Amino acid sequence: MLDYVTDKQTATETDRHDEARQGEAFAPFTNDPNQYKKHFYIESYGCAMNFSDSEIVASILNGVGYGATRNAEEADLVLLNTCSIREKAEQTVRKRLSDFKRIKKTKKGLLVGVLGCMAERLKSKLLEEEKLVDIVVGPDAYRALPNLVLEAESGQKGVNVLLSRDETYADISPVRLGGNGVSAFVSIMRGCNNMCSFCVVPFTRGRERSRPANSILQECTQLFNEGYREVTLLGQNVDSYYYTADEDNPNNDSVTFAQLLEKVALISPLLRIRFSTSHPKDITDDVLHTIARYDNICNYIHLPVQSGSNRILQLMNRTYTREWYMAKVDRIRELLPGCGISADIITGFCTEEEADHQETLAIMEYAQYDYSYMFFYSERPGTLAQKRYTDDVPLNVKKRRLQEVVDMQNRLSLESNLRDIGKTFKILIEGDSKKSDADWMGRSSEGKVFVFPKAGYALQKGDYVWVKANECTQGTLLGEIVVGS
Ligand code: SAH
Ligand code: SF4
Ligand code: F3S
Repeated sequence: MLDYVTDKQTATETDRHDEARQGEAFAPFTNDPNQYKKHFYIESYGCAMNFSDSEIVASILNGVGYGATRNAEEADLVLLNTCSIREKAEQTVRKRLSDFKRIKKTKKGLLVGVLGCMAERLKSKLLEEEKLVDIVVGPDAYRALPNLVLEAESGQKGVNVLLSRDETYADISPVRLGGNGVSAFVSIMRGCNNMCSFCVVPFTRGRERSRPANSILQECTQLFNEGYREVTLLGQNVDSYYYTADEDNPNNDSVTFAQLLEKVALISPLLRIRFSTSHPKDITDDVLHTIARYDNICNYIHLPVQSGSNRILQLMNRTYTREWYMAKVDRIRELLPGCGISADIITGFCTEEEADHQETLAIMEYAQYDYSYMFFYSERPGTLAQKRYTDDVPLNVKKRRLQEVVDMQNRLSLESNLRDIGKTFKILIEGDSKKSDADWMGRSSEGKVFVFPKAGYALQKGDYVWVKANECTQGTLLGEIVVGS
């Protein structure tokens, strides 16, 4: 998934889950800071869903008179939207909480809240473990936040970690925090019904549920009208999106993910659509055909493999074999020539032998991933793997294997970029390049990052332009404009 790749980063330096964007604090650029009497400061960790949730939280808090600030010292309420996916993600949050201890000492009445997956995992234990925390709110309980803040203001600690079977926050218009004004996240489903044995997400995010298609379309249309040119449809497992008519919407026909993609694509040919994440078992030919039919549905699929060994895949409960996965890659290449493909990979899962690891390297080579997000296994309390298997691969072996996977990906990313040299791509301009405001940074449909001189063309961010790739690094293609948009 490419949402956090900037022109500075390479695929392997980038980790959307808890490294690259960890702890970014955002405030909307459009808010009038004097409009609100009180202010909240929010830092988000983890996956894109969490960043998207922070925008829902911002909307809920605006509704009760709290405006966003980028400065924690100025805030009445400090919130950390947390991630539990790996131990390191939780350690980072704990460190951050200890920083806030200092601010809290000097600022009387400052409230500190923990939101997101760590809140869900640890529940009220978090209040015992982290004495300075006043509020603990799980991912399905953000509507309760205003009341919990009121309670905390009167000195009571507030916890709500109830998971829901139907909460999708469909009626809440997210307040866009930060971002580039060109691309936005739109949440289409929540929760996960898969039970990958290593994964904490089903426990922190609850059961799968899909957001009504109409509210997704409304949000995307509004974004387009505000000048956005790219939406990333988000969910833990977007391909199992399935909205059926319910009591509230008896006339709403059922909508599959492929149908939803098509509906969003029809908003405007100028609106690009990305989605994340696909579980390989759920991505259907229907979805692939829909991508092929619409130029504005990006030619890019994030298809986490996790391991290349059948034995490990089975222990992970991924429900596919390496042969099945390879056939899926073949099918993507057949129906979507040139499609960008990326993956998530875990090294050192329970009982992984050298031969299993070699199979992971081999499947990477087979799939020719453009990018990968790579991790060594981190045992999570309460998961199936923690209960059933022993975390028996020594840390140094996990790390050595991870390095080999990273080295392999570096080579594949470079080779993929080299193959693009001399070709011309339609690029959506996202803004100035990080290194120079004489250059633009943008992305191709396949998700590749391009940097190219502005060269006197009257263009702005959000415009499309044709760019020829001349040179590359492993993370970026350097090019030149060949036709104005
Ligand atoms: N729903 C998405 C991703 C969820 S978490 C999907 O199924 O693809 C993102 C990635 O974190 C996973 O794909 C996996 O590669 C990694 N991950 C999850 N649990 C992990 C663990 N316990 N240790 C190391 N990596 C993990
Ligand atoms: Fe976790 Fe698997 Fe669900 Fe992804 S599909 S969130 S890895 S359980
Ligand atoms: Fe982390 Fe929760 Fe996302 S565990 S990766 S923030 S769903």
